[in-house]
Amino acid sequence: MRLISVNKIKEGDVIARDIISYEGGILLKSSSKFKNAFRQRLIERNIYEIYIEDEKSEGIFPQDIINPQVRLEINRDVRTEFDYLKNNLDMNVQNMSKVAETLVSELTRKDIVCDVMDLKMNDDYTYQHCIGVAILTAIVCRKMQISEQHVQKIVMGALMHDIGKIIIPKNVLNKPGKLTDEEYQLLKSHPEIGYKIVEKNTSLSPITKLAILCHHEREDGKGYPLGKGEELHIGAKIVAACDVFHALLSNRPYRPALSVKDVIVIAQMEKINVPIRQTIESVLAFYPVGSVVLLSNGDVGIVEKNFVQDVRRPLVKVLSNIKSNQKTLYRINLQEEMGIHILEKMEDFPETN
Ligand SMILES: [Fe+2]
Repeated sequence: MRLISVNKIKEGDVIARDIISYEGGILLKSSSKFKNAFRQRLIERNIYEIYIEDEKSEGIFPQDIINPQVRLEINRDVRTEFDYLKNNLDMNVQNMSKVAETLVSELTRKDIVCDVMDLKMNDDYTYQHCIGVAILTAIVCRKMQISEQHVQKIVMGALMHDIGKIIIPKNVLNKPGKLTDEEYQLLKSHPEIGYKIVEKNTSLSPITKLAILCHHEREDGKGYPLGKGEELHIGAKIVAACDVFHALLSNRPYRPALSVKDVIVIAQMEKINVPIRQTIESVLAFYPVGSVVLLSNGDVGIVEKNFVQDVRRPLVKVLSNIKSNQKTLYRINLQEEMGIHILEKMEDFPETN
């Protein structure tokens, strides 16, 4: 299967993966044929790229970093807790803890290259963003060899870091333009509100509570709400850094998701902990499996596999050459062919193919 821009997909193209809606229902079913009428529905849900199945991409299968069934259950459980939170300003911490435990056991057993498609989710931003940050946090904790006893507590902090946003109106959270001073102050209050929700809960670790309170702190002490810098617990720093990356990698109502390439440039300007930032950069695949890419020698192909050794140099199934306009078929492992690199990710194969 391969990734194609929603703008380029054609009537009759075969959908390769179920596309799940916020409510957990299936928007488009795998193996069904795309109809032009679907395009707008996808765009309205901030879905700009989908997987299709075709001859070109035969044999290419992105590996889910979490079992899809487990992933659905995680989504359902966290959404249930966020819905409960909305009405009661409280959460069943045990249920969230089970989700954190599942994420830790799924993601910390082996080295993982994080494919951004595994982080992207649709619709309701806050709870899905929390899951995405928790996934990235678990992977980073493993890579940084954080002690096992801390990992679960930090991932739990990631999973709950934005719970304070529950009282902030959606029109403020999703406002495309500049926030008024009043709106900005309200938005900035969410770490403290989140902390207040969990403060008295004795079954939560102080590390988890700190991650919720301090996920907008920065190394230079210019973050909020406490203005604390380098002295912060590493758990809070990891959640803060993963939050920045995940937010930039996500579609927002006021801008589409940025590419990994652009996110890395922007994240360098944020005062987040440098070793943590570099760790995130080392686990995020530059080009998700299934991406159509243009190589420096003019070859065009599909990313088949990413490697932990260097997330910018995948295995590519080459199908054509843009200079000669010739079709071809061979595989190039960019881990070995150091003289060739990827120039760019393309929305689809060039028209002539
Ligand atoms: Fe936040």
